[in-house]
Amino acid sequence: MQQNSDIARAAQRLLEGKLVAFPTETVYGLGADARNPQAVERIYAFKGRPSNHPVIVHLAFDADLSYWAKEIPHQVQALVKTFWPGPLTLILKRADAIPDQVSGGQDTIGLRCPSHPVARTLLQAFSTLKGGHGGVAAPSANKFGQVSPTRAAHVRDEFPMFGDDDLMILEGGAADVGIESTILDVSRMDAAGPVLLRPGHITANDIGKVMGVRPLVQADATAPRVSGSLKAHYAPHTPLALLPRRQIEALLFNQAADVAYTVFQDHPLRMVKGRFAVLGIGPEPVSQSGLSASWLPAARQPHGYARDLYANLRELDQGEFDFLIVEDPPATEAWQAIRDRLNRAAAAFGQR
Ligand code: TXA
Ligand code: MG
Repeated sequence: MQQNSDIARAAQRLLEGKLVAFPTETVYGLGADARNPQAVERIYAFKGRPSNHPVIVHLAFDADLSYWAKEIPHQVQALVKTFWPGPLTLILKRADAIPDQVSGGQDTIGLRCPSHPVARTLLQAFSTLKGGHGGVAAPSANKFGQVSPTRAAHVRDEFPMFGDDDLMILEGGAADVGIESTILDVSRMDAAGPVLLRPGHITANDIGKVMGVRPLVQADATAPRVSGSLKAHYAPHTPLALLPRRQIEALLFNQAADVAYTVFQDHPLRMVKGRFAVLGIGPEPVSQSGLSASWLPAARQPHGYARDLYANLRELDQGEFDFLIVEDPPATEAWQAIRDRLNRAAAAFGQR
């Protein structure tokens, strides 16, 4: 874990307008002073991200929400009390004094208070340097559209051209949640009620229990199926397809070309021939024929699966495979956030 003196140095760098990558319990973030528009611009340039995409502002645990947001609905108090610090981002109306770069020009702001101890110490130190109102704007610390980093080494891999001088990376071990925070829009309570923009570890059901009303689930602008155009995200470099287990078994147990064709008939990967690996749920099925595949057994439980998902995708991406097959997770709420990320990754390669 990171030394406090390094964290203090990182807070100082943020104050100087520099970028700092830091661990959170979800994924590593690429942080900048949220009130410094040039520093926030630097995030976009670093990531190669379109500048109309809003970033999440990370706050210290005792932060004053009304400094960042206005017209805060009364239900927010219960949400904050229950889920912060933790993997929930709240979309609220942005306070007038907050620069609109962090919101990609929108009148809302995404706020989150992470629970990772390194993030908490950093945010506290930075807030103190900024007179009690320090916020760190941070998207996931990866190139735009790529797999999010859940280890410090992943961040280094994403930005190999930058040394410690250009990008300080705080070490915080493997992220525990492993997928990005749940995003809940509470900025349109009158019109729409609470709206879930991105599923995560905290589920619609968890939120419903606190708010007394289940949020409406609405895909955000980066979801795969918006108005005909497939917006891809979270994708490895190697083509990836999601398949149900029985189709994976058919492929493994009869590695004949005609079976491969049948499996992929309506699938954009149907023309791909070559070496593939499987990200399975649990161990590889035993084949009568003794054939076996490169099978990476992911956890059978959604929390363990999510924690390792991005590290697993990165590992498979580094193997010499022509394509990756990911076993379809169960269609239950506990797996919803994982399915969301996998669907987007598959959408990058044309899978609907
Ligand atoms: O777990 C996480 O949320 C991680 C860690 C670093 O905190 N951050 C993260 O950031 O995933 P990023 O930039 O990769 O995703 C931010 C998402 C985007 O889909 C963006 O559209 C949405 O949050 N978002 C941020 N501010 C918003 C706003 N004002 N209105 C609507 N969506 C917003
Ligand atoms: Mg991201």
